[in-house]
Amino acid sequence: MLANPVMTASGTFGYGTEYSHIFDIQKLGAIVCKGTTIEPREGNPQYRLAETASGLINSIGLQNIGVKALIKEKTPIWAGWRVPVIVNIAGETVDDYARLAKELDGIAGISGIEVNISCPNIKAGGAEFGANPDSAARVTAAVKAATSLPVLVKLTPNTSDISKVAIAVAEAGADAISLINTLKGMYIDITIRQPLLGSKTGGLSGPAIKPIALAMVYEVAGAVRIPVIGCGGIAAASDAIEFFMAGASAIQVGTATFTNPRAPLDVLEGIEQFMEKEGIKDITELIGAARS
Ligand SMILES: Cc1cc2nc3c(=O)[nH]c(=O)nc-3n(C[C@H](O)[C@H](O)[C@H](O)COP(=O)(O)O)c2cc1C
Repeated sequence: MLANPVMTASGTFGYGTEYSHIFDIQKLGAIVCKGTTIEPREGNPQYRLAETASGLINSIGLQNIGVKALIKEKTPIWAGWRVPVIVNIAGETVDDYARLAKELDGIAGISGIEVNISCPNIKAGGAEFGANPDSAARVTAAVKAATSLPVLVKLTPNTSDISKVAIAVAEAGADAISLINTLKGMYIDITIRQPLLGSKTGGLSGPAIKPIALAMVYEVAGAVRIPVIGCGGIAAASDAIEFFMAGASAIQVGTATFTNPRAPLDVLEGIEQFMEKEGIKDITELIGAARS
């Protein structure tokens, strides 16, 4: 159970330490750290970021320090924090995810695992694990079997039926679902007549994706009984409240942090002000309010 429903989104808040001098990060509901892989990764070739209308396309390519360094360098710091830290994990095979979950199990300073299933499944020709209910369920079951930590499964919007994937991961034992990850996008630099990003395509995030994320959260919250965490273009308290009304019981703030590093705290304070103004005693009064 979180102290409040505002979390940071993976890949947009580093390991939390980078922001601790900017505002009191201990006030947040939870911090989700950068995507973590078994081995350290240098990420994709430049460029890795392109700004679009109301959005951002990134192809960072999971640059991270690897699970061993994370355990050695970051978790001792997190263990002294009041705010829970959730480790986001990424793999190329089901076994990668299981190994990561096992390594993180029982380590002080880690309160949960968020499974990024937007990664290419190397054994299935590179399709995202989360594009298909069966592979999404296989990853979920393998992670659950390898850890006693709470497991959040983060869905990709790059699938034809997100509810089917949500139901499959819930049945496979997920404790909660977070959504959405980025949408596949491209930016072409017309002066060089080539895609700007080194990896050609990337993931679109920011206000441009909020209506899509909201519709998907609404759909998934109607399909599963486990908690749903909304993410996608949340920059202000009003955005977060829309996600609660769609059925999310918590939210994550991502890209907004790049233009306003205090965005997660601003969103939290704005939610509290809204609740006070509207005479709302408990956030549960808002959750699913738009569903009846
Ligand atoms: C630069 C960048 C890096 C990201 N890295 C990860 C990651 O490592 N793992 C992950 O699950 N999601 C990652 N995401 C996706 C975000 O956590 C979030 O799901 C997405 O950006 C939508 O939310 P937003 O519009 O609030 O940013 C990343 C997003 C951005 C912009």
